[in-house]
Amino acid sequence: MAELRAPSHLISLADLPPGHVADLLDLSMRLKNRPAKASLSGKTVGLLFFRGSLRTRTSFEAAMTQLGGNTINLSAASDFWELETAEGTIMDGRAPEHVKDAAAVLSCYANALAIRPKPAGASWEVDRRDAEIRLWARHARVPVINMESVLWHPLQALADLMTLRESLGELRGKRLSFVWTQSPTAASPAAVHSLLLAAVAQGMHVRVAHPAGFDLDGEVMSQAREAARASGASVETCANAQDGVRGAHVVYARSWHSLEDYGNPTLAASRRSRASGWTIDERLMALGEEAKLMHAMPVRRNLEVMDAVLDGPRSLVVQQAENRLHSQKAVLQKLLGS
Ligand code: CP
Repeated sequence: MAELRAPSHLISLADLPPGHVADLLDLSMRLKNRPAKASLSGKTVGLLFFRGSLRTRTSFEAAMTQLGGNTINLSAASDFWELETAEGTIMDGRAPEHVKDAAAVLSCYANALAIRPKPAGASWEVDRRDAEIRLWARHARVPVINMESVLWHPLQALADLMTLRESLGELRGKRLSFVWTQSPTAASPAAVHSLLLAAVAQGMHVRVAHPAGFDLDGEVMSQAREAARASGASVETCANAQDGVRGAHVVYARSWHSLEDYGNPTLAASRRSRASGWTIDERLMALGEEAKLMHAMPVRRNLEVMDAVLDGPRSLVVQQAENRLHSQKAVLQKLLGS
């Protein structure tokens, strides 16, 4: 397996050399099945959160501790000030420090920087470029790890692939359905984008079911179709949850925001309120092929997914969350191990 050498960044799974995802999954399984060694003793990862997290933060901290290293956690809400992102600007506004300087300085203290940026939220065309995390990657002198940007959530996708492999064994030819779910506070489509590309690369047949106006990013869909042609997989979309679930081996529930209404909260709320009935219940799940349920969490119970499904024997959601720990250990070991 080719080693990732600093500063190799992990912004999306596409940053990994061919074959690397499979190697990371094998290592994740080995790390899950045996006690961790202190392979990262003396190593530090800086975690920068520009918005909140429950799983990503705690699984990162636990992973580094169990590997003998440590983390420094910084929350933009309480620990530092606004950072300037514009290149070459006269800094006479609110931000007293530039990302360029913060990245260089933090690189002196940490062996990697993991970042969860906050999108500006005005324009999808602008935010989908992931300019903020790419700016950190340009100026950091250590690897930058994406803890969920606007477009990608590579760490979630690795944990999801690991969970799929544990549950289904060989993934080629298996059917994975992403089903949009209703929520007053929709999440980003990043986790779905990342797993969509990763799943078709593994040869899975993927269906995406959502109400009108909730299409995934067009360029990501094009990449997925191209990857599917190369791997013998398929990608299709449908406009109701029943067609989405029919015949699926795994139903991946997720509420993502409308990219059509991005930057317009009033239109977005109105569209969401019209999209009722997108709740995963036992009747819907029965249309699948003994279908398992996945969700990246946080999940709104009895709105996105009914209790009976979330707490039932086909639910993989806690296993998914646990696998964040093991798969992130694999990433950290590959990035930082000697
Ligand atoms: N799935 C996920 O990234 O969870 P958090 O937002 O809690 O980190």
